Amino acid sequence: MLDGWRVRVALSAMTGSAGFGPAAPRPYQKTQVPGLSKGNIARFENVGLRYGLGPEVLRDVTFSLDSGSFHFLVGESGAGKSSLLKLMYLAMKPSRGLISLFGTDIATASRAQLPALRRQIGVVFQEFRLLEHLSAFDNVALPLRVAGVKESDVNRHVTELLEWVGLKDHMKSRPPTLSGGQQQRVSIARAVIARPKLLLADEPTGNVDDRMALRLMHLFEELNRLGTTIVVATHNMSLVDGLGYPIVRLDAGTLTMVAGSGNKSAAREWRESRESAQAQAKARRERLRQESEEQDADPPGIENFL
Ligand SMILES: Nc1ncnc2c1ncn2[C@@H]1O[C@H](COP(=O)(O)OP(=O)(O)O)[C@@H](O)[C@H]1O
Ligand SMILES: [Mg+2]
Repeated sequence: MLDGWRVRVALSAMTGSAGFGPAAPRPYQKTQVPGLSKGNIARFENVGLRYGLGPEVLRDVTFSLDSGSFHFLVGESGAGKSSLLKLMYLAMKPSRGLISLFGTDIATASRAQLPALRRQIGVVFQEFRLLEHLSAFDNVALPLRVAGVKESDVNRHVTELLEWVGLKDHMKSRPPTLSGGQQQRVSIARAVIARPKLLLADEPTGNVDDRMALRLMHLFEELNRLGTTIVVATHNMSLVDGLGYPIVRLDAGTLTMVAGSGNKSAAREWRESRESAQAQAKARRERLRQESEEQDADPPGIENFL
């Protein structure tokens, strides 16, 4: 059933060199994400949000997310990014306006429907929110165990993902013994492991260096390629500029779509250029191989890299 799960992708643009490790593992999923029509993942219409009796921190927010889109959410600190994500993962209700998720109006959804909607959303919280009494492994395994995945599969997928995010030696560690960057990676692994329909990540690379940030973004890209709709709130403009996905901007609670409507044209262009670079590198390697006549000199997995 899981054959073909470990299809390799090139990570050339990320590493720029060989030897950085295996390609991003594909997050686990038993079934395919069913096709959804345009705008059906999330729709906000004239949404406003205030905390208690305070001023509105989000005002007249209107947008929709197409299935399979990838957006960056940018804006100054305090602009309302985390608040917008909280509305999307149903941690808060809007003070006004309409929100629908996966085609369901959340205001009229029954109490029983909301947890089912929520289970389709993976969240990387700005403050991680890991379970402190569980190991890194058990934190990441949780969504799979809740979904009733066989323990042998849980083991395989969690181990591979934690290795990939550089936590091979910390699987048994509990979160309080890990650094901020390590906890952030556990939190990301937990959010992606069950391959949610919608992934919301709040400053997911705020605690890691640029190289790791790019590595984590490639995990998101792999998830996106498999059909997950993604929104990443970030301050890291070099990531935003480098990856080229459409941008949603918040300015003091007011939202604008800056570049593109949520379709992946920019992303696709970038991916295609990466694929073409990969093909060129393959030809280059082939030439080098012939020249050196050392056919078996490359370590296993080298074909995945430029
Ligand atoms: N729990 C809260 N209670 C009251 N005000 C809040 C709360 N959380 C956020 N805010 C306010 O809402 C605004 C937007 O905050 P936030 O969504 O965290 O912005 P960002 O994530 O872009 O930094 C800020 O003015 C912030 O002070
Ligand atoms: Mg925030």
